[in-house]
Amino acid sequence: MKQVKIVEVGPRDGLQNEKQPVALATKLELIKRLRDAGLTTIEAGAFVSPKWVPQMADSAEVLKALDLSGPVNYPVLVPNEQGLDAALACGVREIAVFGAASESFSRKNINASIAESLKRFESVMARAASANLRVRGYVSCVVGCPYEGRIAPQQVAMVAKALYDMGCYEISLGDTIGVGTPNTVLEMLDAVSKLVPTERLAGHFHDTYGMAIANIHAALGAGIGTFDSSVAGLGGCPYARGASGNVATEDVVYLLHGLGYETGIDLPQLVATARFISGALGREVGSRVGKALALP
Ligand code: HMG
Ligand code: MG
Repeated sequence: MKQVKIVEVGPRDGLQNEKQPVALATKLELIKRLRDAGLTTIEAGAFVSPKWVPQMADSAEVLKALDLSGPVNYPVLVPNEQGLDAALACGVREIAVFGAASESFSRKNINASIAESLKRFESVMARAASANLRVRGYVSCVVGCPYEGRIAPQQVAMVAKALYDMGCYEISLGDTIGVGTPNTVLEMLDAVSKLVPTERLAGHFHDTYGMAIANIHAALGAGIGTFDSSVAGLGGCPYARGASGNVATEDVVYLLHGLGYETGIDLPQLVATARFISGALGREVGSRVGKALALP
Protein backbone atom coordinates (compact mmCIF):
# COMPACT_ATOMS: atom_id res chain seq x y z
CA MET A 1 0.00 0.00 0.00
CA LYS A 2 1.17 3.55 -0.73
CA GLN A 3 2.37 5.47 2.30
CA VAL A 4 2.25 9.13 3.20
CA LYS A 5 3.93 10.67 6.21
CA ILE A 6 2.11 13.21 8.33
CA VAL A 7 3.99 15.68 10.50
CA GLU A 8 1.64 16.82 13.25
CA VAL A 9 2.34 20.48 14.02
CA GLY A 10 -0.63 21.15 16.32
CA PRO A 11 1.29 21.51 19.59
CA ARG A 12 3.57 24.09 17.93
CA ASP A 13 1.98 25.80 14.89
CA GLY A 14 -1.46 25.02 16.25
CA LEU A 15 -0.95 26.58 19.67
CA GLN A 16 1.67 29.29 19.06
CA ASN A 17 -0.91 31.94 18.20
CA GLU A 18 -3.31 31.25 21.09
CA LYS A 19 -3.78 34.42 23.10
CA GLN A 20 -4.94 32.68 26.28
CA PRO A 21 -2.28 30.67 28.14
CA VAL A 22 -2.51 26.94 27.47
CA ALA A 23 -1.54 24.90 30.53
CA LEU A 24 1.49 22.63 30.35
CA ALA A 25 -0.72 19.69 31.37
CA THR A 26 -3.06 20.39 28.42
CA LYS A 27 -0.14 20.48 25.99
CA LEU A 28 1.19 17.19 27.34
CA GLU A 29 -2.23 15.55 27.21
CA LEU A 30 -2.64 16.73 23.62
CA ILE A 31 0.72 15.21 22.66
CA LYS A 32 -0.10 11.94 24.44
CA ARG A 33 -3.42 11.65 22.61
CA LEU A 34 -1.82 12.43 19.26
CA ARG A 35 0.75 9.70 19.91
CA ASP A 36 -2.00 7.26 20.91
CA ALA A 37 -3.86 8.09 17.68
CA GLY A 38 -0.79 6.94 15.73
CA LEU A 39 1.12 10.13 14.93
CA THR A 40 4.85 9.38 14.89
CA THR A 41 6.22 12.86 14.25
CA ILE A 42 4.82 15.54 16.52
CA GLU A 43 6.34 19.03 16.48
CA ALA A 44 6.29 19.73 20.18
CA GLY A 45 7.52 23.28 20.69
CA ALA A 46 9.69 26.19 19.63
CA PHE A 47 12.85 27.56 21.24
CA VAL A 48 12.16 31.10 20.11
CA SER A 49 12.09 34.36 22.02
CA PRO A 50 9.27 34.28 24.61
CA LYS A 51 8.79 38.01 23.93
CA TRP A 52 7.98 37.20 20.31
CA VAL A 53 5.88 34.08 20.91
CA PRO A 54 4.83 33.84 24.58
CA GLN A 55 2.81 30.66 24.05
CA MET A 56 5.97 28.64 23.33
CA ALA A 57 7.79 29.85 26.46
CA ASP A 58 7.32 26.52 28.24
CA SER A 59 8.78 24.40 25.42
CA ALA A 60 11.65 23.16 27.61
CA GLU A 61 9.14 21.86 30.16
CA VAL A 62 7.14 20.17 27.40
CA LEU A 63 10.20 18.48 25.94
CA LYS A 64 11.56 17.40 29.30
CA ALA A 65 8.31 15.54 29.98
CA LEU A 66 8.52 13.52 26.75
CA ASP A 67 10.37 10.28 26.00
CA LEU A 68 12.82 11.57 23.42
CA SER A 69 14.52 8.22 22.92
CA GLY A 70 11.35 6.33 21.97
CA PRO A 71 9.86 5.68 18.53
CA VAL A 72 8.03 9.02 18.31
CA ASN A 73 9.95 11.94 16.91
CA TYR A 74 9.45 15.35 18.56
CA PRO A 75 11.07 18.09 16.48
CA VAL A 76 11.22 21.68 17.73
CA LEU A 77 11.74 25.03 15.99
CA VAL A 78 15.10 26.70 16.48
CA PRO A 79 15.78 30.17 15.01
CA ASN A 80 19.37 30.69 16.17
CA GLU A 81 22.19 29.33 18.32
CA GLN A 82 20.49 30.43 21.52
CA GLY A 83 17.51 28.30 20.56
CA LEU A 84 19.83 25.43 19.70
CA ASP A 85 21.44 25.61 23.15
CA ALA A 86 18.01 25.33 24.75
CA ALA A 87 17.04 22.43 22.49
CA LEU A 88 20.28 20.56 23.19
CA ALA A 89 19.80 21.03 26.93
CA CYS A 90 16.51 19.12 26.60
CA GLY A 91 18.09 16.29 24.63
CA VAL A 92 16.09 16.77 21.41
CA ARG A 93 16.99 14.65 18.40
CA GLU A 94 15.56 16.84 15.68
CA ILE A 95 15.23 20.57 15.14
CA ALA A 96 13.76 22.71 12.40
CA VAL A 97 15.19 25.98 11.17
CA PHE A 98 12.70 28.30 9.52
CA GLY A 99 13.28 30.79 6.76
CA ALA A 100 11.08 32.49 4.21
CA ALA A 101 10.89 33.15 0.50
CA SER A 102 9.73 36.70 1.22
CA GLU A 103 12.11 39.39 2.50
CA SER A 104 9.37 41.29 4.35
CA PHE A 105 8.03 38.20 6.08
CA SER A 106 11.54 37.12 7.05
CA ARG A 107 12.13 40.46 8.77
CA LYS A 108 8.79 40.43 10.55
CA ASN A 109 9.06 36.81 11.67
CA ILE A 110 12.71 36.43 12.64
CA ASN A 111 14.06 39.97 12.47
CA ALA A 112 16.54 39.12 9.72
CA SER A 113 16.81 39.37 5.96
CA ILE A 114 16.76 36.10 4.00
CA ALA A 115 20.55 36.29 3.54
CA GLU A 116 21.13 37.01 7.25
CA SER A 117 18.86 34.14 8.26
CA LEU A 118 20.67 31.67 6.01
CA LYS A 119 23.98 32.75 7.50
CA ARG A 120 22.54 32.29 11.00
CA PHE A 121 21.30 28.81 10.07
CA GLU A 122 24.76 27.79 8.84
CA SER A 123 26.22 28.04 12.33
CA VAL A 124 23.16 26.28 13.78
CA MET A 125 23.53 23.50 11.18
CA ALA A 126 27.23 23.02 11.87
CA ARG A 127 26.65 22.59 15.59
CA ALA A 128 23.58 20.42 15.01
CA ALA A 129 25.64 18.12 12.79
CA SER A 130 28.29 17.62 15.46
CA ALA A 131 25.54 16.87 17.99
CA ASN A 132 23.98 14.34 15.55
CA LEU A 133 20.68 16.22 15.28
CA ARG A 134 18.50 15.89 12.24
CA VAL A 135 17.52 19.26 10.84
CA ARG A 136 14.40 20.06 8.88
CA GLY A 137 14.11 23.32 6.99
CA TYR A 138 10.97 25.39 6.54
CA VAL A 139 10.38 27.92 3.82
CA SER A 140 7.43 30.24 4.51
CA CYS A 141 5.36 32.22 2.03
CA VAL A 142 5.95 29.79 -0.82
CA VAL A 143 2.99 31.06 -2.81
CA GLY A 144 2.12 34.42 -1.31
CA CYS A 145 3.19 36.82 1.42
CA PRO A 146 0.94 38.98 3.61
CA TYR A 147 3.22 41.97 2.93
CA GLU A 148 4.47 41.41 -0.63
CA GLY A 149 1.69 39.49 -2.38
CA ARG A 150 2.63 36.82 -4.94
CA ILE A 151 6.06 35.23 -4.45
CA ALA A 152 8.00 34.01 -7.49
CA PRO A 153 8.46 30.21 -7.57
CA GLN A 154 12.14 30.78 -8.44
CA GLN A 155 12.66 32.67 -5.18
CA VAL A 156 11.15 29.75 -3.23
CA ALA A 157 13.40 27.32 -5.11
CA MET A 158 16.52 29.33 -4.25
CA VAL A 159 15.78 29.42 -0.52
CA ALA A 160 14.78 25.73 -0.48
CA LYS A 161 18.00 24.78 -2.26
CA ALA A 162 20.09 26.87 0.15
CA LEU A 163 18.56 24.99 3.11
CA TYR A 164 18.95 21.64 1.38
CA ASP A 165 22.60 22.33 0.47
CA MET A 166 23.23 23.30 4.09
CA GLY A 167 22.17 19.81 5.17
CA CYS A 168 18.44 19.93 5.92
CA TYR A 169 17.13 16.41 5.32
CA GLU A 170 13.70 17.69 4.35
CA ILE A 171 12.34 21.03 3.20
CA SER A 172 8.81 21.88 4.28
CA LEU A 173 7.19 24.34 1.89
CA GLY A 174 4.79 26.59 3.77
CA ASP A 175 1.78 28.28 2.23
CA THR A 176 1.71 30.40 5.36
CA ILE A 177 -1.41 32.40 4.51
CA GLY A 178 -3.18 29.68 2.56
CA VAL A 179 -3.56 31.67 -0.65
CA GLY A 180 -2.38 28.89 -2.98
CA THR A 181 -4.58 27.03 -5.43
CA PRO A 182 -3.49 23.83 -7.21
CA ASN A 183 -2.10 25.69 -10.22
CA THR A 184 0.09 28.10 -8.22
CA VAL A 185 1.17 25.30 -5.88
CA LEU A 186 2.14 23.05 -8.80
CA GLU A 187 4.04 25.89 -10.47
CA MET A 188 5.97 26.43 -7.24
CA LEU A 189 6.63 22.69 -6.76
CA ASP A 190 7.84 22.41 -10.33
CA ALA A 191 10.42 25.16 -9.74
CA VAL A 192 11.56 23.74 -6.39
CA SER A 193 11.78 20.16 -7.68
CA LYS A 194 14.30 21.27 -10.29
CA LEU A 195 16.73 22.18 -7.48
CA VAL A 196 15.77 19.86 -4.59
CA PRO A 197 14.76 16.17 -5.00
CA THR A 198 10.97 15.81 -4.74
CA GLU A 199 11.28 13.06 -2.11
CA ARG A 200 12.97 15.63 0.15
CA LEU A 201 10.04 18.04 0.01
CA ALA A 202 7.04 18.34 2.31
CA GLY A 203 3.86 20.38 1.94
CA HIS A 204 2.74 22.70 4.77
CA PHE A 205 -0.62 24.15 3.87
CA HIS A 206 -2.67 26.57 5.90
CA ASP A 207 -6.38 26.44 5.15
CA THR A 208 -7.24 30.14 5.20
CA TYR A 209 -9.17 30.01 1.92
CA GLY A 210 -10.30 26.38 2.20
CA MET A 211 -7.84 25.31 -0.51
CA ALA A 212 -5.50 23.12 1.55
CA ILE A 213 -7.09 19.76 0.70
CA ALA A 214 -7.17 20.62 -3.00
CA ASN A 215 -3.52 21.68 -2.79
CA ILE A 216 -2.52 18.49 -0.99
CA HIS A 217 -4.28 16.43 -3.64
CA ALA A 218 -2.38 18.29 -6.33
CA ALA A 219 0.92 17.96 -4.46
CA LEU A 220 0.38 14.20 -4.04
CA GLY A 221 0.05 13.98 -7.80
CA ALA A 222 3.35 15.83 -8.13
CA GLY A 223 5.05 13.19 -5.97
CA ILE A 224 5.08 14.87 -2.55
CA GLY A 225 4.86 12.23 0.18
CA THR A 226 5.00 14.25 3.42
CA PHE A 227 2.46 16.77 4.70
CA ASP A 228 2.30 18.92 7.81
CA SER A 229 -1.06 19.38 9.49
CA SER A 230 -2.59 20.38 12.76
CA VAL A 231 -5.23 18.47 14.72
CA ALA A 232 -8.58 20.29 14.73
CA GLY A 233 -7.16 22.77 12.21
CA LEU A 234 -5.63 24.82 15.02
CA GLY A 235 -3.12 27.48 14.32
CA GLY A 236 -1.72 30.43 12.52
CA CYS A 237 1.48 32.43 12.47
CA PRO A 238 1.56 35.50 14.72
CA TYR A 239 3.65 37.33 12.10
CA ALA A 240 1.35 36.59 9.16
CA ARG A 241 -1.73 38.78 9.24
CA GLY A 242 -4.79 36.75 8.27
CA ALA A 243 -3.08 33.38 8.62
CA SER A 244 -5.63 30.91 9.92
CA GLY A 245 -5.03 27.37 11.02
CA ASN A 246 -3.09 24.63 9.35
CA VAL A 247 -5.05 22.12 7.36
CA ALA A 248 -6.69 19.81 9.91
CA THR A 249 -4.93 16.47 10.36
CA GLU A 250 -8.25 14.63 10.40
CA ASP A 251 -9.24 16.16 7.04
CA VAL A 252 -5.90 15.09 5.55
CA VAL A 253 -6.19 11.58 6.99
CA TYR A 254 -9.72 11.22 5.60
CA LEU A 255 -8.49 12.27 2.16
CA LEU A 256 -5.48 9.96 2.26
CA HIS A 257 -7.37 6.91 3.49
CA GLY A 258 -10.03 7.55 0.86
CA LEU A 259 -7.32 7.59 -1.79
CA GLY A 260 -5.91 4.30 -0.51
CA TYR A 261 -2.84 5.65 1.29
CA GLU A 262 -1.65 4.23 4.55
CA THR A 263 -0.90 6.66 7.39
CA GLY A 264 -0.91 4.47 10.49
CA ILE A 265 -3.37 6.93 12.07
CA ASP A 266 -6.63 5.95 13.76
CA LEU A 267 -9.20 8.47 12.51
CA PRO A 268 -11.81 8.14 15.30
CA GLN A 269 -9.08 8.53 17.92
CA LEU A 270 -7.72 11.55 16.09
CA VAL A 271 -11.17 13.13 15.98
CA ALA A 272 -11.55 12.50 19.72
CA THR A 273 -8.22 14.31 20.16
CA ALA A 274 -9.49 17.22 18.07
CA ARG A 275 -12.55 17.39 20.33
CA PHE A 276 -10.34 17.27 23.43
CA ILE A 277 -8.11 20.19 22.43
CA SER A 278 -10.97 22.26 21.01
CA GLY A 279 -12.87 21.78 24.27
CA ALA A 280 -9.80 22.77 26.29
CA LEU A 281 -9.50 25.95 24.22
CA GLY A 282 -13.22 26.62 24.54
CA ARG A 283 -14.20 26.36 20.90
CA GLU A 284 -15.79 24.07 18.34
CA VAL A 285 -13.70 21.62 16.34
CA GLY A 286 -12.51 23.53 13.27
CA SER A 287 -12.30 20.62 10.83
CA ARG A 288 -14.96 19.32 8.46
CA VAL A 289 -14.23 15.69 9.32
CA GLY A 290 -14.20 16.47 13.04
CA LYS A 291 -17.67 18.03 12.72
CA ALA A 292 -19.02 15.21 10.54
CA LEU A 293 -17.81 12.42 12.81
CA ALA A 294 -19.08 14.21 15.91
CA LEU A 295 -22.65 14.00 14.58
CA PRO A 296 -24.91 11.54 16.41
P1 HMG B 1 15.81 39.46 18.00
O1 HMG B 1 15.07 40.41 18.88
O2 HMG B 1 16.42 39.99 16.74
O3 HMG B 1 16.93 38.66 18.83
O4 HMG B 1 14.84 38.26 17.65
P2 HMG B 1 18.27 39.12 19.50
O5 HMG B 1 19.30 38.09 19.15
O6 HMG B 1 18.57 40.56 19.19
O7 HMG B 1 17.94 38.99 21.06
C1 HMG B 1 16.94 39.82 21.67
C2 HMG B 1 16.39 39.13 22.91
O8 HMG B 1 15.78 37.87 22.55
C3 HMG B 1 17.44 38.78 23.94
O9 HMG B 1 16.80 38.84 25.22
C4 HMG B 1 17.75 37.33 23.67
O10 HMG B 1 18.21 36.65 24.82
C5 HMG B 1 16.38 36.80 23.27
P3 HMG B 1 16.87 40.17 26.15
O11 HMG B 1 18.34 40.42 26.31
O12 HMG B 1 16.17 41.25 25.36
O13 HMG B 1 16.12 39.73 27.38
N1 HMG B 1 16.47 35.64 22.38
C6 HMG B 1 15.95 34.43 22.67
N2 HMG B 1 15.25 33.98 23.71
C7 HMG B 1 14.86 32.68 23.69
N3 HMG B 1 15.15 31.83 22.68
C8 HMG B 1 15.84 32.25 21.61
C9 HMG B 1 16.29 33.59 21.58
N4 HMG B 1 16.99 34.32 20.69
C10 HMG B 1 17.11 35.56 21.20
N5 HMG B 1 16.10 31.41 20.61
C11 HMG B 1 14.43 35.96 17.09
C12 HMG B 1 15.24 37.22 16.78
C13 HMG B 1 14.69 34.99 15.95
C14 HMG B 1 14.90 35.40 18.42
C15 HMG B 1 12.93 36.35 17.19
O14 HMG B 1 12.59 37.06 16.03
C16 HMG B 1 12.02 35.15 17.30
O15 HMG B 1 12.04 34.47 18.32
N6 HMG B 1 11.23 34.87 16.27
C17 HMG B 1 10.39 33.68 16.23
C18 HMG B 1 9.09 33.98 15.59
C19 HMG B 1 8.26 32.71 15.53
O16 HMG B 1 8.42 31.80 16.31
N7 HMG B 1 7.33 32.68 14.56
C20 HMG B 1 6.44 31.56 14.40
C21 HMG B 1 7.11 30.32 13.89
S1 HMG B 1 7.40 30.34 12.13
C22 HMG B 1 5.89 29.80 11.45
O17 HMG B 1 4.92 29.68 12.14
C23 HMG B 1 5.87 29.42 9.99
C24 HMG B 1 5.86 27.90 9.78
O18 HMG B 1 4.76 27.29 10.42
C25 HMG B 1 5.79 27.58 8.28
C26 HMG B 1 4.67 28.34 7.56
O19 HMG B 1 3.51 28.21 7.93
O20 HMG B 1 5.03 29.07 6.65
C27 HMG B 1 7.13 27.25 10.33
MG1 MG C 1 2.75 27.22 9.63
